[in-house]
Amino acid sequence: MKILVLGSGAGGGFPQWNCNCRLCAGQRQGDLCAHARTQSSIAVSADGESWVLLNASPDIGQQIRNHPQLHPRQGLRDTPIKAVVLMDAQIDHVTGLLGLREGPCIDLYATPCVFEDLTTGLPLLNVLQHYCGTRWHMLPVAGNQSSAQFEIDGFASLRFTALAIPGMAPPYSPHRREQVVGDNIALLIEDLRDGRRLFYSPGLAEVGDTELQWMCDADCLLVDGTFWEEDEMQRAGLSGKTATEMGHLPQIGGTARAGMVDVMNATTARRKVLIHINNSNPILDEASAQRRLLDAHGIEVAFDGMEITL
Ligand code: MLT
Ligand code: MN
Ligand code: ZN
Repeated sequence: MKILVLGSGAGGGFPQWNCNCRLCAGQRQGDLCAHARTQSSIAVSADGESWVLLNASPDIGQQIRNHPQLHPRQGLRDTPIKAVVLMDAQIDHVTGLLGLREGPCIDLYATPCVFEDLTTGLPLLNVLQHYCGTRWHMLPVAGNQSSAQFEIDGFASLRFTALAIPGMAPPYSPHRREQVVGDNIALLIEDLRDGRRLFYSPGLAEVGDTELQWMCDADCLLVDGTFWEEDEMQRAGLSGKTATEMGHLPQIGGTARAGMVDVMNATTARRKVLIHINNSNPILDEASAQRRLLDAHGIEVAFDGMEITL
């Protein structure tokens, strides 16, 4: 299986357009060893020819331009992007659908909650009906059903499983204050040819026994790297919100719970990679002590253009 990181930043990307924090300003001025990052999305392929997008970033146009793997191949109009799977209905994960409107009808895989948000609070799908249209493939993760296995046409060797995870519905969603099953999913993708598995979860608020079990079953983890610390945004004066209030497990835990670094250390995955890095996270600075700590644990930080062959 081939995995292509199209965007490794959180909402806003890095540097964020209106942000003058130490990291954003330092990146702009070239004072830091830190690469710019677009908003998070990856593409997955079994053969390097056809690709499934996992989330559709607002930066999709730039991401496709930057990656020849996703350029048109033959014919006057063409795309190797055959389907889109959504992890949630957050702006940084869905608004790229509008950027695909010039193409063919979009085969879209999402949960009932996400389809609901995208036809009510943020009615992108209603709008797209007037352009390319979308073909809905409902992932039955709702109510008391917390996982669902599914296939995607044209990707016979990949088996996908959607797993409901703790997270946060978008600020505009009626479920913002009370998450329901299906607002946030993680994906386990298994290549049936060699049994290798990817666990992808760019927004993961908590790792309980179920999530840990899924992570332990994976060869590669590509997980929530939004925040280093719980109160990072507050400390930097950027926001009053904690990582928990935003639905993200920070890399460093406290007395009450383990952080993502501890969680990843508890698994035997061959590749442990953080993605969806917020512009406030010190790991963006490649010379930082935090980055050295990750290196010491064999944990990688995803970058735009990163390719992983499992
Ligand atoms: C989040 O995951 O919390 C987002 O990156 C927030 C946003 O899109 O603004
Ligand atoms: Mn986000
Ligand atoms: Zn910033």
